[in-house]
Amino acid sequence: MQKFLDAFHDEAGKLSVDDPATGRIIAKVKTYSPGEIDPIIDAAWAGQSVWARRPAKDRASILRNWFNLVMANQAELAQLITAECGKPIAESMGEVAYGAAFIDWFAEEGRRAYGETVPSMAPDKRVLTIKQPVGTCAAITPWNFPVAMVTRKVAPALAAGCSIIVKPAEATPLSALALEQLAVEAGVPSAIFRVTPATDPAPIGKLFCSDTRIRKLSFTGSTAVGKKLMEQAAQNVMKVSLELGGNAPFIVFDDADLDAAVEGAIASKFRNAGQTCVCANRFLVQDGIAEEFVSKLSARVADLQVGAGREDGVQIGPLINRAGFSKVQSLVDDAVAKGAKIATGGARASNGDNFYQPTVLTGVTSDMTIASKEIFGPVAPVISFHDETEAIRIANDTPFGLAAYFYARDVGRVWRVMEALEFGMVGVNDGVISTEVAPFGGIKQSGLGREGSRHGLDEYLELKYALMSGL
Ligand code: SIN
Repeated sequence: MQKFLDAFHDEAGKLSVDDPATGRIIAKVKTYSPGEIDPIIDAAWAGQSVWARRPAKDRASILRNWFNLVMANQAELAQLITAECGKPIAESMGEVAYGAAFIDWFAEEGRRAYGETVPSMAPDKRVLTIKQPVGTCAAITPWNFPVAMVTRKVAPALAAGCSIIVKPAEATPLSALALEQLAVEAGVPSAIFRVTPATDPAPIGKLFCSDTRIRKLSFTGSTAVGKKLMEQAAQNVMKVSLELGGNAPFIVFDDADLDAAVEGAIASKFRNAGQTCVCANRFLVQDGIAEEFVSKLSARVADLQVGAGREDGVQIGPLINRAGFSKVQSLVDDAVAKGAKIATGGARASNGDNFYQPTVLTGVTSDMTIASKEIFGPVAPVISFHDETEAIRIANDTPFGLAAYFYARDVGRVWRVMEALEFGMVGVNDGVISTEVAPFGGIKQSGLGREGSRHGLDEYLELKYALMSGL
């Protein structure tokens, strides 16, 4: 990790990066104002057509070098993630592998950006399509996956022949800067992928949406900010991909394998201390098995080890900052004031200011704020339901539609519920759905577009139709 800190620490840098476990500053980094980003856009714009003209095979081999370098630096990158974002080191190692997998995947997919020939409507005409890079792109990435959310956007952009400028989250610029350094080492021309940390994100978002040299914006973050960016991007009818907030239901039916459901619940809810947009946010449990499920879940949750992410055996790290902590505490307080019961946890953990105890709440009802707000913390609220119709009604009763999970064994029920859930991604008898091979994304107010899979490449390609006539 030290080699990256030495490379990016700038004593005069305006952005201080701190360790959420201790509050101590780990580095200061150089930031970019909109005026300083202007020449960076110029270079990215000028270089893009050169990059796009290189054979897809060359771009793929450079991406493959980048993948190898990221994996060769897995331990150092993981330490960097843990230092700036707080997650346990085992999760950070997993994030580096997850993030690198997008580079590997898109290195291959970029070689298969096929067009098509279409059976013609006239004897002297031919109809065909080709796919071409969108152009220069911009991305705004979140703090909860400082590596994977960068590679999930940058790898398809580069594979497609685009250039891209990334504004990383204020809390976690170091991992993004490290990825940029490794990309250049791998052979990506420096103008083609730039990382521009900033202290104030709003003017950068505005610049990305108003500069006509930028043809696409990809954003992962809150629905409120996503709506603002979409409004700004509308001025230039710019392409946008938005991966926004969720309110994931995790439904346990009475025919479920309860032990598997408890393990799935732990995996889904407590990943990154509950700070992912696909974390289970509401546990809907059928009334006949609710008591047994809560007792098994609470026993597992009470056993989770809380501590600084760098310490051995830690499973739950700190929340990202004081604001994140206060939000979680106030959601729990509101639920308890309205009648919810704490089965385990429910308070600050003794490890430090940003640590919250892994918590299970029972007797949660829809009038409690925790049932409708994204928690982004290690709290599992349990709501009970009577039958399949009621479960689906409660699950879909949200403006969000990112991820949903359910556990059931009856085959008919599995199909009915999977089809009825209004969410972009559904985990059936599984609590972890994220993988580079599948399309990640939401419906309703959870966003637009998909990342990962073959569909993730299309987000960075334009489809051109050509009519060849006079044959
Ligand atoms: C996110 O929380 O934004 C992404 C989570 C994932 O990729 O699993």
